[in-house]
Amino acid sequence: MTGIIAAMSCEAELILGAMKDRSPRVVGGMTFWQGRIGDEDVVLATCGVGKVFASACATAMIITYNPDKIINTGVAGAVSNSVNKLDTVVGTALVQHDMDTTPLGDEAGLISGINKVYFETDKELSDKLYSFVELCGGKAKRGIVATGDQFVASAEVKSRIATLFGASCADMEGGAIAHVCFINNVPFAALRTMSDGADGDASGDFMEFCNKAAKISSDVIISYLSTSK
Ligand code: ADE
Repeated sequence: MTGIIAAMSCEAELILGAMKDRSPRVVGGMTFWQGRIGDEDVVLATCGVGKVFASACATAMIITYNPDKIINTGVAGAVSNSVNKLDTVVGTALVQHDMDTTPLGDEAGLISGINKVYFETDKELSDKLYSFVELCGGKAKRGIVATGDQFVASAEVKSRIATLFGASCADMEGGAIAHVCFINNVPFAALRTMSDGADGDASGDFMEFCNKAAKISSDVIISYLSTSK
């Protein structure tokens, strides 16, 4: 079974619409839709915005459905100059840009206990998703996804995240889901289409391009799942 997590309903509704024989179940305050796309068993959840909702959702999904992989899909803000609006970033690794114990002498983004800054994604799954972005007519890029409880909307913050972490884009859930998948040994991939440039125009661009960007990543997920068996 493949688990799919999106933050907002606009990022999940097309995927939900493509699911056959679907039925809902509420676990830990989250609604999980179980069904099929093509011949693949799928569980889909709309977790809500931010790292706490994302980790609560990933944990409940893993404990309840035991998926063999989880994909986080949706929109993001581009922080690298080589990533443009409506490009799709397939994550190579995820980092939590607001994790900060640097006053204690740690590296920025370090997660104590497991001593990690970056969570690598599953290569085979990411390569497949990358090929489907191109098949769906999207512009595919690979890069690091930086996650924090912050909608990035300034040149300064954007440049800090790009410089400090080598990130391509910023979201608000991926790094938390990657973290939960890591501690549970579940292969993980991230697929994010750019709704904005994480700069001073980000809020207006987000409103304008969010649905269009969400459709691109949803189309990729649906095409991938339709042919994955
Ligand atoms: N998701 C979409 N755009 C974003 C941004 N600029 N910052 C964080 N998450 C986002």
